[in-house]
Amino acid sequence: MSSNNGIILRKHIDPVEGYPKVGEHFGLEERPFNLEAAKVDEEHPLLLRNIYTSIDPYIRIRMQSPQRKSYLPSLDLGQVIPNLTLAEVVKSAVPEYKTGSHVVFMSGWEEYTFVPKDAMKMVQPISNPYNLPLMTFVGALGMPSQTAYVGLKHVGKPKAGETIYISAASGAVGQVAGQLAKSMGLYVVGSAGSDEKIAHLKELGYDAAFNYKNESVHDALPRLCPKGIDIYFENVGGETLDAVLMNANFHARIIFCGAISQYNNPNPYGLKNYAQILTKSLTIEGFIVMNLIPLYQEEYFREMPKLIAEGKLKYKYDVYKGLGSIPEGLIGVLQGKNFGKALAKIADE
Ligand SMILES: NC(=O)c1ccc[n+]([C@@H]2O[C@H](COP(=O)([O-])OP(=O)(O)OC[C@H]3O[C@@H](n4cnc5c(N)ncnc54)[C@H](OP(=O)(O)O)[C@@H]3O)[C@@H](O)[C@H]2O)c1
Repeated sequence: MSSNNGIILRKHIDPVEGYPKVGEHFGLEERPFNLEAAKVDEEHPLLLRNIYTSIDPYIRIRMQSPQRKSYLPSLDLGQVIPNLTLAEVVKSAVPEYKTGSHVVFMSGWEEYTFVPKDAMKMVQPISNPYNLPLMTFVGALGMPSQTAYVGLKHVGKPKAGETIYISAASGAVGQVAGQLAKSMGLYVVGSAGSDEKIAHLKELGYDAAFNYKNESVHDALPRLCPKGIDIYFENVGGETLDAVLMNANFHARIIFCGAISQYNNPNPYGLKNYAQILTKSLTIEGFIVMNLIPLYQEEYFREMPKLIAEGKLKYKYDVYKGLGSIPEGLIGVLQGKNFGKALAKIADE
């Protein structure tokens, strides 16, 4: 008998309650599974073996109670937590998907996933003309890179010579946003939470970077952005956004991608400098990648795999080992312990 263990949501948790706790709010559930006897059919045409799964901050938003409305519904109690995963087709009832082929799917954080027939349109077969490593499809080419790409290019509409500031700059979204901005001729400034991360930003080509734990963002931004900020790629929210408002140029654009400092904050930060939005005619635009990427998928998959294959876009991973390491990985991301894109390797390729 094999197993199909999964990471289960046990209890909802709102931001005011702080960080989720492993065991209390979510954790590993052991489930026996007879792989040999498992059958695919019309109702469940595919059985997937999950290999690499993405660990992302937005999962925290899905752990909130259903009363808090968001762009995705809260997860049900007892549900395996779903996220984008690179998987192998191990049983197939449809000729388009051969056993042994690889796909990206919103599998659960579990060892094996049956794909229901109404979710078949969400299964993405991978096309790999550059022979990139399999983890790339939920890593350097995955959802956070798509976020960086559409956010920067199509929300921020950058112009060469402008100054962009990116927070959480060494993370999954930030590292890509910074390199793309540099390739478009911008002056790129980033912040992150350790000196090691700052050194890495310089290696990625950031023009300037600061550790926000050692220097106040109110001091660092005027020092490192002497011409002011034209674009802010917002990943963290809170006081950082307040400091950006004071250092923004007229008609600056704020690409509102995330607010991770608020996801577990019992005392939500109240903006003090919001009148700057009026007096400088600022634009703040929130966006959700899954709503925008369908519009730009073709150009994304034309441009990005090539950049990665040619080594023009570097990508740092933080790989957690085994299904059981995922809860620790998620809490690590929420607390800034990850250095690079957090992924878990659930099984061998
Ligand atoms: N709009 C969308 O569709 C979309 C899609 C994907 C991601 N996002 C958002 O984009 C942001 C980055 O996501 P990601 O996947 O790239 O994560 P990530 O940057 O790889 O990991 C999260 C990072 O956030 C930083 N952080 C954590 N707590 C913080 C705090 N209190 N204050 C400041 N920084 C903090 C930490 O880096 P430091 O050590 O540098 O603090 C941590 O490593 C998140 O807000 C996420 O929700 C939005």
